[in-house]
Amino acid sequence: MKFTTSFLCLLVAFIATAADTNSIYHDGWIDLDKNGRKDIYEDLSRPVANRVDDLLKRMTLDEKIGQLEQSPFGKDPVKQPAGKLKAGDISSFLDGSALIESPVLRNKLQHIAVEQSRLGIPLIFGHDSIHGFRTVFPIPLAQACAWEPELFERTQTISARESSAAGIDWVFSPMVDLARDPRWGRIAEGFGEDPWLGALDAAASVRGFQGTNCADTNRVVACLKHFVGYGAAEGGRDYNTTEISEFTLRNFYLPQFKAGVDAGALTVMSAFNELSGMPASANRHTLTDILRDEWEFPGYVVSDWESVGELVDHGVAADEAAAARLALTAGVDMEMVSTTYLDTLKQQIEQGEIPKKVLDEAVRRVLTVKFEKGLFDHPFTDANSYKTAFLQQDAIDLAREAAAKSCVLLKNENGALPLSPQVKKLALIGPFAEDGEEMVGPWYSRAHTNDIVSLADGLRAQLPFDFQLAIARGCSILETNSGKIRRHIGDFSPVKERWTGTNEIAEAVAAAKSADVVVLTLGEPRDWSGESSSRSDLGLPGRQMELFDAIVATGKPVIVVLFNGRPLAIPKVQKQAAAILEAWFPGIQGGNGVADVLFGDVDPAGRLTTTFPNRVGQVPFYYNHSNTGRPGFGDYKGNYADGPTVPLYPFGFGLAYTTFDYGKVQLDSPEMKLDGTISAHMQIQNTGERAGTEVAQLYIRALAATTGPRPVRELKGFQKILLQPGESRDMSFNISGKELGYYNSKGNWLVEPGKYQLWISKDSASGEPVNFDLVK
Ligand code: BGC
Repeated sequence: MKFTTSFLCLLVAFIATAADTNSIYHDGWIDLDKNGRKDIYEDLSRPVANRVDDLLKRMTLDEKIGQLEQSPFGKDPVKQPAGKLKAGDISSFLDGSALIESPVLRNKLQHIAVEQSRLGIPLIFGHDSIHGFRTVFPIPLAQACAWEPELFERTQTISARESSAAGIDWVFSPMVDLARDPRWGRIAEGFGEDPWLGALDAAASVRGFQGTNCADTNRVVACLKHFVGYGAAEGGRDYNTTEISEFTLRNFYLPQFKAGVDAGALTVMSAFNELSGMPASANRHTLTDILRDEWEFPGYVVSDWESVGELVDHGVAADEAAAARLALTAGVDMEMVSTTYLDTLKQQIEQGEIPKKVLDEAVRRVLTVKFEKGLFDHPFTDANSYKTAFLQQDAIDLAREAAAKSCVLLKNENGALPLSPQVKKLALIGPFAEDGEEMVGPWYSRAHTNDIVSLADGLRAQLPFDFQLAIARGCSILETNSGKIRRHIGDFSPVKERWTGTNEIAEAVAAAKSADVVVLTLGEPRDWSGESSSRSDLGLPGRQMELFDAIVATGKPVIVVLFNGRPLAIPKVQKQAAAILEAWFPGIQGGNGVADVLFGDVDPAGRLTTTFPNRVGQVPFYYNHSNTGRPGFGDYKGNYADGPTVPLYPFGFGLAYTTFDYGKVQLDSPEMKLDGTISAHMQIQNTGERAGTEVAQLYIRALAATTGPRPVRELKGFQKILLQPGESRDMSFNISGKELGYYNSKGNWLVEPGKYQLWISKDSASGEPVNFDLVK
């Protein structure tokens, strides 16, 4: 496959330049340094390590430093950087706004790098394909709710196909930051609060992007980000300080990165935040001691956007030179956007302030990935393939499947859902009813407005012919009494609008009154999720609660469909709605996928991977917390005097259109050896009248651990099963001693003998545990 791809690319280049006798393109290799000989680094048959060694020997100090610079596109993306490209001062481009469906532009830049620089080292092009490229899938937090890591493998495979057709070699994804604080906008980009499930999702995403060989056509290099601890930002404020003990870092924040490295991710991005007294982009402990020395990560580390330059703002570097020195020696190989390496490394190396070896190692890692991606052998993209690669039928189908699988049914009183065939008049109300753009979430990448299916479109496409649909917006997402609203129109350019003053709520109430059932769409604007989009409140913004109250007051059954990027604190909606379907930002096929669930063509099988609080004051709030010494202390149970201590919905929660009965957990033995396994069995029965999918979850708890206190529950397994009405299944889970280990504060993984509990339950807050002993 690799050979075929390379061969074809070279053939095209060869034919194109056949008339030119001085061509650097040959049948099977490229004369990158234009010396008329096939040098070792140009020779496809040599192992990558030899090729890198050979190339490194030929490079000047300037050329080496140039390999560590990643640049954004300027206003004139070709003319502006041409000089630097010829000098070998740029290694990579990112952002790609100029790349929109234009591999032609990419190839132009690549031609300059390959043909006009001394050694012809190709560029690597990076882009944020976070949850899709042209086919935009549900946000990662939503996809995680499918409890189906293979879903990530499948969606990211499509994302890789579309990205690479647009000329992208490298994606800044997956974001594997564990997040416990829904105020933080980037919670939308990750997998939730559980390190075990997050690790499975991380590995699956890497497999989806890179396949078995990232040099294959349709594959891209993955990047695990943001290393590390970014999700623990104080107060949920983006870019903020984090203070994470080694114990918590090892057990909660690192496992997803480790899983991604083990799955073969070739790059890692260092984070913006300060981590326990040192910015993550200057943190030698995490970048070198852990990532390289312990985990033997073979790829390269890229900084986050200007996070090397920002070391000055952090107050740990006096100037750019000090920032560059700190970052490079800590283990950041490539600098994104800021230019401290380019501007200062030469002098520092010549003056012996930074050992040459440190630079060589960083360059070696960058070149190795470029070789592994096959860029030296096929540097150009087929300029036409994107025309057929985008929005293929399998991508559209998967986007619809993923949107439906991401939905979590949070409430369903008196079987309000699925919509019954008796319902003849439906009122679709709320600011998201006809809004397609909001469906795609924060990283909409190259989504086009016309490709998006809104909920109104999705419902219309499935309505029986005798069904009446009335649509009323009710209010805009952010409308306030002052009349100011903000939203996006057109192809995603942010604009400010002024509210026209029409009382849309009255129109919505009229529509509700004449309907049998109301589907009320509520949520947050999509640009309130993602980077630099934190919130201090977790309720519904604008006049949405006013709209909700008015619609509930009509007495009609109100089915709320939520479009949002984080857990929301909405206890009143929870009390008064007849049903609540959490649809997140479901992507371009959102309207169809959500309609599939509303009509019952797809059973809601999503389960939360983040805790929903009752109030914002409860956060950070997560299921796998420590027990404390006073878990049930006094009237307030060690918690709040003025409000609930329990979550609105716990981790793992989600309903189906049927009901399931859990039997008692049986263990095949009351004891497990450290190197042995134990089997847990449980009878689960579908007690309803519809077929349905259940996600049975296995949790454990260590009751006395020398490593340090362990969580009150830790997820260690799950099974997603479809049961027919009345069907009973004997579920069996095997768990080994090894899986019960934990890190101590020194970073040692220990499997400890002692007393443990085990649950098989529908979520993290239900079920009865059984005990077992782990013995030597
Ligand atoms: C974000 C990264 C992103 C990078 C490149 C940064 O601001 O934090 O997640 O990959 O920009 O776009």
